[in-house]
Amino acid sequence: MTYPMRAQKPFSRAILDWYDSHARTLPWRSLPGVRPDPYHVWLSEIMLQQTTVVTVGPYFEKFLAAWPTVADMAAAPLDDILTAWAGLGYYARARNLHKCAIAVTKEHGGRFPSSLDALLSLPGIGPYTAAAIAAIAFDQPETVVDGNIERIIARLYRIETPLPAAKKEITVAADELTPEKRAGDYAQCLMDIGATICTPRNPKCDQCPVEKACAARAAGDMERFPVKPPKKVKPTRRAVVFWIERPDGHVLLRRRPEKGLLGGMMEFPSTDWREEMISIDAALQEMFGSAALRLDAGETLELVRHTFTHFHLQLRPVVIRLKNARDNRVPEGEWVSSSDFSSRALPTLMQKVVAAVEKGQGSLAL
Ligand code: ADE
Repeated sequence: MTYPMRAQKPFSRAILDWYDSHARTLPWRSLPGVRPDPYHVWLSEIMLQQTTVVTVGPYFEKFLAAWPTVADMAAAPLDDILTAWAGLGYYARARNLHKCAIAVTKEHGGRFPSSLDALLSLPGIGPYTAAAIAAIAFDQPETVVDGNIERIIARLYRIETPLPAAKKEITVAADELTPEKRAGDYAQCLMDIGATICTPRNPKCDQCPVEKACAARAAGDMERFPVKPPKKVKPTRRAVVFWIERPDGHVLLRRRPEKGLLGGMMEFPSTDWREEMISIDAALQEMFGSAALRLDAGETLELVRHTFTHFHLQLRPVVIRLKNARDNRVPEGEWVSSSDFSSRALPTLMQKVVAAVEKGQGSLAL
């Protein structure tokens, strides 16, 4: 792939010139041309992996206030990090954040390494993050390709291969354009252009510093790129979730397994998340080994809906009020007063369950 001759300036020159006067001011950035703190770059890049710039801003500030250095983060209990992370989603990132902080503190004397290979060997740092840290924090000529940059390159060359197969082609093309100097500013500039100009819908090509170089702009079919794969339908999984409340008002929480979705976060006990519908009777049987319970208010609570990357989830909340503080039918877990939920690592999904229970009235006596 060759960069078109009709463009007046080399691609990276046009991009960097634009960055010098248009860069977005974001909490983790330094001024164009100035190297930021690698700890800030790493933290922001991990947070930004699946989350928008607007959402990340306050979390980034909160984390830096709580843990000003990577050694401070390494010394913190994992639960504090998970609690501070609550709401950002994809919690494996938070566990790896902690592991990585410990590795940098113990194995690298509290300083992030600058080489791609050393960065790649750290927990939670994959090819994208390693390239972003090497380029942004250490001014190495690494090529950074995120979703925004993918879109820009796919349009620049009108790459017809659909994603995800096109990733390789896009990376090769992107690599040829990366400048030797200021690769970090260059990457962040492409991110800004992708977020504000070269948007998925209605791109503002008249504001783009590389408009003249863009093949899709010339053909007028920008929105067709990157070419998407045929859509897969997301399945819906369902479960009954139990709010089990003792006479003293404490509610049962349990910790999810370390590995997998919402790993290590707290949850209200529920039946397995399956595609088949489960009746409340079958759910009571599964959870307590007994279905001999009757709703004492004629009402069940609103369904809680949540969407994960690979499936939709519908939880039906059922409130159980225990007559006795001890009941051996009740599963193991941690009893927490609802006023203390905010200090626990309760993911957004479980916060929706709290809201549904607070709004509704139906309950069962056990
Ligand atoms: N998305 C991921 N990293 C980013 C950065 N450094 N600036 C803006 N958006 C980003």
